[in-house]
Amino acid sequence: MTTQGPCPKAGVIGWPVAQSLSPHIHGHWLSHYGLAGAYDLLPVAPENLPAFIAGMAEQGLVGANVTVPHKVAVLDLVDQVSDVAKAIGAVNTLYFDEDRLVGTNSDAFGFFENLREGAPSWQASGGPAVVLGAGGAARAVIFALLDAGVPQVRLTNRTIAKAQDLASHFGERVVAVAWEERETALSGANLLVNSTSLGMAGQPPLPLRLEDFPTSAVINDIVYKPLETELLRAGRLRGNPVVDGLGMLLHQARAGFKRWFGTDPQVTKELRRRLLDAAT
Ligand code: ATR
Repeated sequence: MTTQGPCPKAGVIGWPVAQSLSPHIHGHWLSHYGLAGAYDLLPVAPENLPAFIAGMAEQGLVGANVTVPHKVAVLDLVDQVSDVAKAIGAVNTLYFDEDRLVGTNSDAFGFFENLREGAPSWQASGGPAVVLGAGGAARAVIFALLDAGVPQVRLTNRTIAKAQDLASHFGERVVAVAWEERETALSGANLLVNSTSLGMAGQPPLPLRLEDFPTSAVINDIVYKPLETELLRAGRLRGNPVVDGLGMLLHQARAGFKRWFGTDPQVTKELRRRLLDAAT
């Protein structure tokens, strides 16, 4: 149950937040399904976050997405944190359950739905996964992979201490690998996920030779700008099934939309096109 009036209002809380693509996604769905509702940018400076969260119901908000830099700070400001948000250590979606504000996280769901859709033949039980990067996005990726039954996650990161922290947080199925050993870790794996910012427009390239990676294994880059990163291009050219990162953004948005506006929306080709236009 949401505490919604005649025109439910939601939005994305961030600082800065003008760059967020979420209003394009939710705006598309609201008009596509002919629903009365609004989804706005909600710029909130860190020092104003506690007061903003406490005043959400009064402002007529039925919920919100949360983006940088608030995803961790919000954990302490809600009435209840879902198990998945606890495990990931961050909140990206807020909704009301009666009058209690709940913080949850749909990034792992978004990651996994995108992977399933983009590589339907990939099997979680088929072998180890290599994850590059140990930031916020990696936490959601690792949670989703373990939840799906991947036997081992080889986690490699420039700063090894962060990979080791995540390995001890998630348990013995996650093994920290030195960044210098990342190419060796590709041997025998059936999935590679880039969760670093490397390869994104304006960032340095991702230095990675794929020789040891089986050509039947899947490559997923969570970077979506450009849509085909150098990593995906290199994988495609040698025959690997490749999955771009745009779908993760689209699928993670479904959870909030369903809670706030009552419809589980579809991720369509038309929506992907609209987002690509907005992103470039
Ligand atoms: P997000 O929340 O999107 O995951 P983040 O927490 O800033 O973003 O994480 C960015 C990731 O990209 C980290 O794993 C980071 O490695 P460090 O933990 O060593 O900082 C990785 N990254 C960024 N720039 C990098 C570079 N030049 N070389 C290798 N890894 C890099």
